[in-house]
Amino acid sequence: MGSPSRKRVRPRSDWPEDISTVLISQTRLRRRVGELASEIERDYAGLDLVIVALLNGTVVFLADLIRQLQLPLRLDFIGVSSYREGVESKELVMTKELRLDVKGREVLILDDILDTGRTMALVSDKIRKLKPRSMKICVLLDKPSRRLAKVSADYTGFEIPDKFVIGYGLDFAERYRNLPFIGVLKPRIYEASA
Ligand code: IMP
Ligand code: MG
Repeated sequence: MGSPSRKRVRPRSDWPEDISTVLISQTRLRRRVGELASEIERDYAGLDLVIVALLNGTVVFLADLIRQLQLPLRLDFIGVSSYREGVESKELVMTKELRLDVKGREVLILDDILDTGRTMALVSDKIRKLKPRSMKICVLLDKPSRRLAKVSADYTGFEIPDKFVIGYGLDFAERYRNLPFIGVLKPRIYEASA
């Protein structure tokens, strides 16, 4: 087993150069995710909850949220990938289908961010056809100014301005997901790869 090539590994100390500002700190994320967990716990007490999380952007938010939910629940994933040009999403492709039977269940769909809303419109239409008893939407971030599809969240962590953000699960070209805060990516980073 060789050591990883130095050229390929981006050391963490390089990251702040790609980020213009920290939009939401770790402390604010922790506090708000705790509040969301309390709201969800109250609304779903005594119900048979299925959380459907969208891959891959929800991983960090999901892990933090569910560990604070003192509720019996089941978890499943749907994969939707959008082919992107720079930061603009193009065609949506399913990469993982739901496995659990959600018919007659209380479904809570979880995503990292509601942007144009096209991803959530696709996923919620798909789930609605499976006849859940109820279906609600929870997103960590919402960029309402970008909305194209008619969709809104029932639980929102933070409303944010129209800036491309990364960290806490959110990526640009699959990078930066492990940053512990939400940061604004410098436009030159995505403009360079567009
Ligand atoms: P929508 O279909 O335009 O609402 O886009 C939703 C998906 O696009 C999210 O699940 C994210 O994966 C991605 N996305 C949208 N805005 C951002 C952003 O600012 N940073 C990182 N990913 C984003
Ligand atoms: Mg996503």
